[in-house]
Order: sequence, then structure tokens, then C-alpha cells
Amino acid sequence: MKRRDFVFSSAVTAAAALIPSSLRGGEPQKTPLTGNALRFPPVLQPGQQLTLTTTNAEVWPGQLTEVIALNGSYPGPTIKVKRGAQFSVIFNNQHSEEATIHWHGLLVPELMDGQPKDAVLPGASYTYTFMVTQRAGTYFYHSHAHHITGKHVYKGFAGFFIIEDDAELQLGLPAGEFDVPLVIQDRRSANIPQFTYQPAMMDNMLGYMGDTALVNGTPDAYLEIHKTLYRFRLLNGSNARIYNIAFSDNTPFTIIGTDSGLKDETVQASSVYLAPGERLEILADFSNHQQGTSVNLLSLPFTAPGLQGDSITLMRFDITGTQSSGGVIPQLLPAITYYNYADKLRTREFVLSQGTMATGMHRINDKVYDMNRIDEVVQINELEEWKFVNTTNLYHPMHIHGVMFQVYSRGGNTTLDPKDKGWKDTVLLFPNETVGVLTKFTDHAGIFLMHCHILEHEDMGMMINFRIEGEPTTSTDDEGRINGFAQEQNYPNPFNPSTVIGYTVGRRAMVELELYDIQGSLIARPVSRVHEPGRYSIRVDFTGQGLPSGMYIYRMKASAEGKTLFVKSGKMEYIK
Ligand code: C2O
Ligand code: CU
Ligand code: CU
Repeated sequence: MKRRDFVFSSAVTAAAALIPSSLRGGEPQKTPLTGNALRFPPVLQPGQQLTLTTTNAEVWPGQLTEVIALNGSYPGPTIKVKRGAQFSVIFNNQHSEEATIHWHGLLVPELMDGQPKDAVLPGASYTYTFMVTQRAGTYFYHSHAHHITGKHVYKGFAGFFIIEDDAELQLGLPAGEFDVPLVIQDRRSANIPQFTYQPAMMDNMLGYMGDTALVNGTPDAYLEIHKTLYRFRLLNGSNARIYNIAFSDNTPFTIIGTDSGLKDETVQASSVYLAPGERLEILADFSNHQQGTSVNLLSLPFTAPGLQGDSITLMRFDITGTQSSGGVIPQLLPAITYYNYADKLRTREFVLSQGTMATGMHRINDKVYDMNRIDEVVQINELEEWKFVNTTNLYHPMHIHGVMFQVYSRGGNTTLDPKDKGWKDTVLLFPNETVGVLTKFTDHAGIFLMHCHILEHEDMGMMINFRIEGEPTTSTDDEGRINGFAQEQNYPNPFNPSTVIGYTVGRRAMVELELYDIQGSLIARPVSRVHEPGRYSIRVDFTGQGLPSGMYIYRMKASAEGKTLFVKSGKMEYIK
């Protein structure tokens, strides 16, 4: 018996003993042969571009739905990247409206963040390029166009961005076909097969909701599964609907991850809320289910205005096979360092309120979003409490760009539900609830956004700009830096005639930055001197050098006492 098999079978026995028999499912359900096999968006290949067009997709079999989609795919292509890698993609906007790609949850420089102010006009292209420094986890991307984010996302413009790293792969979690990303969205059955987006007054108030669920763009989705352990990466890609995730037979599951990767402890649950913009990773064990039966993934009802809170079936799992995933429920997850509340330098309060059409239906501190106004200025590396005070009877999932935060208090209670622990970028506020989170912006200075992720609320102005000031210098493992050294992607890229390369020096060291052509011949050494710790940048100018268009490599090397501390290469593109 292989070791992994052994660990796996003992884990199953232990889990079974913990489940009360009342929860083990009553009458086995017969497998109904209805619905559509769960779809999986294509994986974006290296070098492939992302092109936005209005096109038709076959969402309901035999019928065409008009979508606003990347590479003709609804949902958008899945992006898979290794932590530490440089990600680059050319975005071509061939749609009739301005658009951006926002990388939700990723810590990227301001001009890579896809904010409404940095819209790519119809017919134009833009290269998004950044270092993937995040923890491994389930992230996503979507349009962030001014006032029309809701429409773009509803019509199909969103997709997965999955980050993997070796540390996570070593935990022995279910992998391959047993690691299943599921993006949950809702649409209006009255409009089938169209994704009609015409919010009425009530929709602007409550958010645009549908009454039927699509998972990975599949209506009435089913997935044939084995009697084994699965990892589901759940993403709520809906405009406004909050799901109270559960299995129809009450199968308990294990929550292992939040917005920004793995939690530090597993949490047993039989239901959990998932608001727009949030992600949850769960392990579900089907080894005690009978072959030939089915179980539904659904949203349990909860009290809320309008369609919000209605019970809805999301998809069906048909247990048809007996193969083992070989995956295990990890006994120990990597530690998370929790911020100490006493270390916070200040508290900022954000009062969420509801006005009229004239005063702003959804407001933060009595204001509606103004692209040209900076609402808050924060200093890099300073720990702050951001306190969201919901004075409305509505739900508001609040999202902050440029940071991973930690929930500190909910409803005045600092003893958190374990579900609230871990790294987050979006936190759900229940009606009239106050939630405090601890934030520290460490990676990039510049202008970033905070907003409600109910997209109609955001489009109507429930959003602010804040500016992060200072120089990013610290190093922590959670940001993926080595010894506090970092070399950033050059900007702009592609460039002509000059571009800037930023880099961080973690300790006193000799720093050399060299420039090579694609054949590997050295063409220049723009930096060669001893540096004190800090963040630096160098402008590289090709004017008058007679160099051809194309890719160039830059390489930073730092050394001290004859030891190499850091080496890193990046690619840049010169266009004559
Ligand atoms: Cu996913 Cu600013 O949003
Ligand atoms: Cu975001
Ligand atoms: Cu809201």
C-alpha cells in the first residue's frame, strides 16, 4: 500500500465516525439523466491574447446567447499561473464600449489594476503585466468599466485566475480532475436564452438578481463524480446574489481556503455564505455516498429583501464512479500571522448609507464615487483598522483593492466565527452590521479602490478612491519576496523610447542590473554599485542606440560578502 493511500483511507474512517447518522443522507436519490454536463472554460495558453468582443455563445443547448466575452468564451478563459512568475497578456478591446481587466485579489501596480480611470477604449489594446506575488489560491478577473461593470460581468466578462505554488502542492489535496473550480452566477429565466441586463429601480436598489443558476456558464449543470474526496474552488461571480452554500443531503464539508488562499485551520461546516467577489475552497467527501445517487449543491434560504435569500439549486453531483482522488484533508495547514490590534495606528470609519436617486442611492461616508477625487490617503506599511458601518437594511460585500486583509470584529464581537478567519479581500456585511478589518498596504503605492461588490451598488457610486503613499520596502513571505529583494516588471511595457525598472534592495548589497538581447549578448549595464536598503528605479532609454524592435532581457543580481543574495530576470519589449 502506498503511503498516500494509507493516509487517505484512515482519514475517511475518521471523518465517517464524526458524522452523525442523521446527516448521512436519507433515501438515496436516483440519478436523473437530465441537465447539461458541467463545462470548463479553456485554459489561457502562454502567449495567447485576450480579445473582448460581442459574440454569441451556446449557453442553453441549441440556442444562442449574446455575450460580451474574452476570446469568445463564457465564462472567460481560466488563467493558471505559478506564484513568483511574471504574468503578461495583451488585452484587445474590440467591443463597442470602454473596458478594463481588473485582477481581483491580486496585488499589482496601480496601472495594472484595471481601474475605471484606466479604461482601454474601443479598438485599443493594453498590455497587463505583473509579478504574481500572491499566495496560491483562487482569484478571478472581470471588467471594471465605469458605470457598466454590472452589465459587462452579467453578459459574461469574468473568469478564473488560479495561482499555484509548490508548498500547496505538497499538502496532498485532491488534484487534477478532483480539483474543481466552480463559478456560480445567476440569470433570469424569463429572458432565456438572453442575458438581458436592464436594471429597474428595484434592481439598482437590491442588485440585479436572477432566479436560475449557471455554474461555469452551464445551466442545470451536473458533474459525474467518484466516491472520494473533492476540492471545490467556489467563486461567486454573480452581480448581486449571495449564496448560502450547502449540499442537499446536508453532507458536511471542510472549508480550507478563503479569498487569498488556504486558511490556517480547517473548518467543518454544513453551510456557509458566499457573497459576490468572495471565494471559498472546500473539501467534500463523497466516499460514503452510494453509487448511482445524486446530491445537489444549493443555496439555502435566508431572510432578505426581494429575490435575495431565495433558495436556489446550483448544480448536481452524480456519484457514478469509485476511483479515489488520493487526496487528503490536511491535518496541518501553513500558519498565518495575525495582526495585533494593538499595533494599529488608526481607525478609519466608512459609513454605508442609502439615499435617494438624487443624493446617491448607495453611499460611503455620504458620497458617491468621483473618479477624480481622492477620498483617503494611507501610508504604506501602516497597520489600520477599516471599520465598515452598514446603516442600511441591505447586504454589502465590501472589497478593497491592493491588499489582503484580516477580519477583526463582526457586530462588535472580536471572537470571530472561524469562517471569518484567514486572508480576505472581500467581506460580507449583513444588514445594519458593523465589521472591522485590519489592513496593511505593503506592495504598491498609488491610487486604488474600495467598493461594494454588488455591482449595481458599485456602478451607482458605492466606491471610493484611496491613495497609498510611500515606498514598499518590507519583506515577508506572504508577499513572496526573497530576502527583501525584488525586481519589478518594467513600465511601460512595451515601450518606446524608454522604460522604468523598479527594484527593492533588502539589505546593503552590490547591485548589478544588466540588459541582454534575446540571443543573450550583454548590451548594457545600467546599474552597478553598492546600495543601501530601499526601493530604487532606473530608467532605460533606447534613444539613438540603433537597437531593433523585440524582446530584451534585464537581469538584477545582488551580492554581499562574495555571496549571491538575489538573481532575477525580466522580459521587456521595445517597439520602434
Ligand atoms: Cu472584483 Cu474592484 O473588484
Ligand atoms: Cu478587486
Ligand atoms: Cu452594496
